[in-house]
Amino acid sequence: MTIPLIDQLADASLLKEQAYIGGRWVDAQSNNTFDVVDPATQKIIARVADLGAAETAQAIELADTAMREWRAKAPKQRSDILERWYQLIVDNTEDLAIIMSAEQGKMLAESRGEIAYSASFIKWFAEEGKRVYGDVISSAQTDRRGITIKQAIGVVAAITPWNFPSAMITRKVAPALAVGCAVVLKPAAETPLSALALAELAHRAELPAGLLNIITGVDAVAIGGELTSNKRVKKLTFTGSTPVGKLLMAQCANTVKRTSMELGGNAPIVIFDDADLDLVMPGIINAKFRNSGQTCISANRILVQKGIYDTFIARLQDAASTFNFGTYSDGNSTHGPLITQTAVDNVDAKVQHAVAQGANLVCGGEKNDSTGYFYPATILTDLTREMAIFNEEIFGPVAAIYPFDTEQQAIDMSNDTPFGLAAYVYTESMRRSWRVAEALEYGMVGVNETAISAETVPFGGVKESGQGREGSKYGLDDYLEIKYICFGSMDK
Ligand code: SIN
Repeated sequence: MTIPLIDQLADASLLKEQAYIGGRWVDAQSNNTFDVVDPATQKIIARVADLGAAETAQAIELADTAMREWRAKAPKQRSDILERWYQLIVDNTEDLAIIMSAEQGKMLAESRGEIAYSASFIKWFAEEGKRVYGDVISSAQTDRRGITIKQAIGVVAAITPWNFPSAMITRKVAPALAVGCAVVLKPAAETPLSALALAELAHRAELPAGLLNIITGVDAVAIGGELTSNKRVKKLTFTGSTPVGKLLMAQCANTVKRTSMELGGNAPIVIFDDADLDLVMPGIINAKFRNSGQTCISANRILVQKGIYDTFIARLQDAASTFNFGTYSDGNSTHGPLITQTAVDNVDAKVQHAVAQGANLVCGGEKNDSTGYFYPATILTDLTREMAIFNEEIFGPVAAIYPFDTEQQAIDMSNDTPFGLAAYVYTESMRRSWRVAEALEYGMVGVNETAISAETVPFGGVKESGQGREGSKYGLDDYLEIKYICFGSMDK
């Protein structure tokens, strides 16, 4: 028998079903709710307020008001509140991890890791927010002096995905709050509970009312429409698919909002003959099967040089045969489900199409009709760049393997995509690692490493994978405007 989510928590008041606007917990004006489903059991675990455009507009207005006092505070005052929020998240890690696993399906160990990762952005930006600097600029005229200052951009709208229900929120909200902005956030409808639990902890940290608003709802068009058209919103930050990102950018054009976009990927992982396979194997398991393949930086195309091709496939098959797909509450599970049945159908369609186009199916590749949105670990080999799968983001536990001969061929194949988020290279040659890393048209490159994300380093893509950088010392820039101030008549 499954224990109800609320009974699994040490602190049941972290499980919220109302939205959070202006520092209060609210129902939808319509009183409508939507179901949140555990993707491993298909059981309803919560019924959450289903808001729309009207409540979104109200939240934006409250954010705009709240921000006026907040941005006038000393950075240290904002930092102290963020530090308190960070500590509360750390202190409640276990409950937050259980909530995340229940709504998203990832294993508890992964959820605990994500909570630590999520909290790290708050700590980092609490510190970085104190280090916003301007310039004193030499003037072209003897009677003038110029300076620049950086100021909070204004109300920020944030739209976040279901694959990392906590960290993708704090990576946006923490820098925004740290520099004096207020945020209106729409979490994915599949995973609103993690967002609401974060808001509860922000409330306990005494973040002033109106600075963080959580708009839960299934009508993404209505909520997104308000967020992108409302003149009070000065910036939109989005993590999600490239088609939706393009649409949001177009909608923001009308009011010339600043946007930052973390969009889809099609990451290559290039494994050269001289790679150390003992390094490669944990790296590929992390890059391909973390979150059951549902990450934007997942190794989507595995390029293997022909000298180690057969050995690599045999070792990957051995590793995949040890995976046990199941629910987080079953201690034997190693991997969780996909997020919905539609996700399972999409992944399966890509696999079947690749096989129809001549791919070799080494293992997996079959949907089953048991409870939960599971898809087995699947290995496809002998793929070519002419096949449809070469251009598709798989978002599932499917290892798509392409043989190659030369370094140049691997670089050409890697760059032959409109996407440019993350890429990985495995080689023991220092010269080759530099050459290839420089040639790859990606925002992030891991050399002999796939666990590349952290709060200290910049996360973001080029080409159709997005714009802007999150985390790191650059992560504040997207929430700041530069103002130039000219002092004239200085010779009087
Ligand atoms: C993502 O791929 O969606 C985010 C992964 C990360 O931050 O490591």
